[in-house]
Amino acid sequence: MTEKNILCIGAGYVGGPTMAMIAAKCPQCRVTVVDIDPERIAAWNSDNLPIYEPGLDELVRVSRGKNLFFSTDIERGIRENDLIFVSVNTPTKSFGLGAGLAADLQYWEKTARQILGFSKSAKIVIEKSTLPVKTALAMERILNSGDNAIRFDVLSNPEFLAEGSAVRDLENPDRVLIGSRETEEGLRARGILADIFAQWVPRERILTSNIWSSELSKLVANAFLAQRISSINAVSALCEKTEANVVEVARAVGMDSRIGSKFMNASIGFGGSCFKKDILNLVYLCRSYGLTEVADYWEMVIRINDYQQERFIQGMLGAMFNTLAGKKIALFGFAFKADTGDTRESPAIYIARRLIEERALVVVTDPQALKNARRDLSGNEGVSYVEDPYSAAAGCHALAVMTEWGIYQALDFQRIYDSMEKPAFIFDGRNILDHRACFEIGFNVYPLGKPPLTHF
Ligand SMILES: NC(=O)c1ccc[n+]([C@@H]2O[C@H](COP(=O)([O-])OP(=O)(O)OC[C@H]3O[C@@H](n4cnc5c(N)ncnc54)[C@H](O)[C@@H]3O)[C@@H](O)[C@H]2O)c1
Repeated sequence: MTEKNILCIGAGYVGGPTMAMIAAKCPQCRVTVVDIDPERIAAWNSDNLPIYEPGLDELVRVSRGKNLFFSTDIERGIRENDLIFVSVNTPTKSFGLGAGLAADLQYWEKTARQILGFSKSAKIVIEKSTLPVKTALAMERILNSGDNAIRFDVLSNPEFLAEGSAVRDLENPDRVLIGSRETEEGLRARGILADIFAQWVPRERILTSNIWSSELSKLVANAFLAQRISSINAVSALCEKTEANVVEVARAVGMDSRIGSKFMNASIGFGGSCFKKDILNLVYLCRSYGLTEVADYWEMVIRINDYQQERFIQGMLGAMFNTLAGKKIALFGFAFKADTGDTRESPAIYIARRLIEERALVVVTDPQALKNARRDLSGNEGVSYVEDPYSAAAGCHALAVMTEWGIYQALDFQRIYDSMEKPAFIFDGRNILDHRACFEIGFNVYPLGKPPLTHF
């Protein structure tokens, strides 16, 4: 492969790790990551990276300053690079038409205009952000609206990494997807990008498709993943009514090779910056094409997720004698999943807010997410933040597991029980603890989708 100058606009959870992997695997490429946020760029250039991701520190250290650079100079970045990934945020729109459903494309469009404004030579522009289908058409229209006759090819290369395992996923992806126009120029641009990934990804895992299939595949992949979580969570509610055990049901169902065993754990629901916004985006697309039933179908995935969180609160209220006022409750974990400090759309935010509404005193503990938790719950009285889980639980009436951090399984629950108010309760929103052992210590244990273990 010949040398390439690669730029990524957006130094977030996707842009940073993805470019660090490309730089590490393609030493002949020069990779620059730019962002409008100077603090974020400074953090990428420091020993304290802006995001926590296992293996990321080591990965960045391999290339930073050699062929991997983080900068705020967007203009120079655009001028000097031929391949431009766009990995800016595409949150749900909070205003105007489509508010609460459609993707907010303002950051994305700003970058398209910057690329047009600063380009002096031909570019391949790669959509890395998750975008509604047909966004590439708008990108092409903006880029080709100038009068400088520069050639722009737009590709779609959605990112499938999962936070918490980003480095592993990037190093060994199930697939890489590249969508392009099926014109001679489109296919040539597609080939250039495929050659980069082929430096470490087997060719048979580099899929190519038409550009609209590529854009849609990302939304559909997230919708299917979230649907599995809502499916097992819906089943957990039925298990609690029938004394079936959701873990046993999931095992029996998941051993069917047509179904598979992954994403089968009942929980307080999915979070993260993507699932909800991408399904809402899908729902909005369906509605705008007049596909009401299809939109309703996918929307239910989100409704079940909301239902599961509210059900969890009602379960706590019911178990704790219908009042939480003045009771101290420790939330074990605040990140939306283990191995990340990201709390965007974390179910813990909803649970914490509902507990505060019930006038409980909330103690939040998390090994990576306390800074974000403070921001998410700022302005709420009656919340404290404690790094050590033992100190967090001391004096509490209940603890509720919000995040499946492995460290919580290894805690000394006898010590925790001894330090708590009695009767002491555990609400395991991730079903990760040894429920029988906790019950034998003296806790009243409420798992999800399984009969509770109580001393009453
Ligand atoms: N987080 C994930 O796990 C994940 C996985 C797959 C895909 N995605 C998608 O990737 C995209 C980025 O997600 P993220 O989690 O990395 O977001 P993020 O918010 O962490 O990062 C986006 C970055 O873009 C920067 N930015 C915004 N406008 C800019 C501009 N005009 N010029 C330069 N920088 C600008 C922001 O300052 C921010 O640092 C989204 O579309 C998301 O849906 C995310």
